[in-house]
Amino acid sequence: MDSRAGTRRPHTPGVDIPALNWLDPPAGPAVELLDQTRLPATAAVVTCADVPALVDAIRRLVVRGAPLLGVAGAFGVALAACRGEDVAQAAAMIEQARPTAVNLGWGTRRALAAHQRAWQAGHKDGERMAARAALAEARLIAAGDAAASAAMAAHGLGLIPPGARVLTHCNTGALVSAGEGTAFAVILAAHRAGRLAMLWVDETRPLLQGARLTAFEAGRAGIPHAVLADAAAASLLAAGQVDVVLTGADRIAADGSVANKVGTYGLAVLAGHHRVPFVVVAPMSTIDRDTPDGASIIVEHRPADEVTSMAGRPVAPAGTSAYNPAFDVTPPGMLTAIVTERGVAQPVNAGTLRVLSAGPGSAEGPPADVYVER
Ligand code: MRU
Repeated sequence: MDSRAGTRRPHTPGVDIPALNWLDPPAGPAVELLDQTRLPATAAVVTCADVPALVDAIRRLVVRGAPLLGVAGAFGVALAACRGEDVAQAAAMIEQARPTAVNLGWGTRRALAAHQRAWQAGHKDGERMAARAALAEARLIAAGDAAASAAMAAHGLGLIPPGARVLTHCNTGALVSAGEGTAFAVILAAHRAGRLAMLWVDETRPLLQGARLTAFEAGRAGIPHAVLADAAAASLLAAGQVDVVLTGADRIAADGSVANKVGTYGLAVLAGHHRVPFVVVAPMSTIDRDTPDGASIIVEHRPADEVTSMAGRPVAPAGTSAYNPAFDVTPPGMLTAIVTERGVAQPVNAGTLRVLSAGPGSAEGPPADVYVER
């Protein structure tokens, strides 16, 4: 089999399989991924035994969602190191697999830096020690993501009123995280606290991450939910059926502009019109201080057939072209708050994000657990 495609192992749908798993020798080194393109019908595992297979899996959205892409990128570097390959070249390949989710490059570069530090330390068993360091860093990133997820859930819960009807877009749960996710972690916390009356799930065209994945996660968690066509969100909001909109983010620019799954911007416009709070939940690793504003965010454009076909079957006449940006950008003024593991930026602007980024220990930073209001 072509190594770019990875090897596939089918499982029974519904069985708990982690979204990403590292395999040590003798079965590995390899990265096992729950194939998100086949959920919910089939829970299949794709085993990536080399970096081209992992890059292919990232491009095809076998593994997806900003935080998990950061974890996957780091394990990809560890994989290259364990195979004795050119680690810098592997990191460059992984980073370029998808351009918008900042976590992919962030996680990849962290593991690469750990590898380089260990290599430069000049151990006599340098290659093995450096590979170990890259793997340890990848595990640290995964643990950090799980902890961030729990902290975001705790911070975000404060923004959810009792009896809330929440509208969400795309998929932001355990499938995109080493923990319980971003926006979905807040939704789960609200459900456990008895505050969630209803979860409205945008189907999220064209690849149906909402209908396929969020509905799957909501059903398994026992959350009352219903899927709607993206175009139905307007009338749902007009009918007063939504108390808060919660989404994740793929990249947050220094000014607070948020790139997230295409359709997010439209929802923010609608929420503003209907005076419904619009809250973004993302770890600090999604905040990109090097990208000054929304216009500077590179938006990934994907193949036309994702729009002109449904579940692999053509729905538009053969040869029809398509406009298929994977993400859109919502300006900071349209957001009510950004929830991170360090606290909540409200209002959303360069100042509140700078304070959060500075961290609790610094003069500029907030004490843990506070709202940043500047
Ligand atoms: O193209 P995808 O499925 O990788 O897009 C994912 C999203 O847009 C999510 O909303 C985003 O990564 C936040 S998930 C924590």
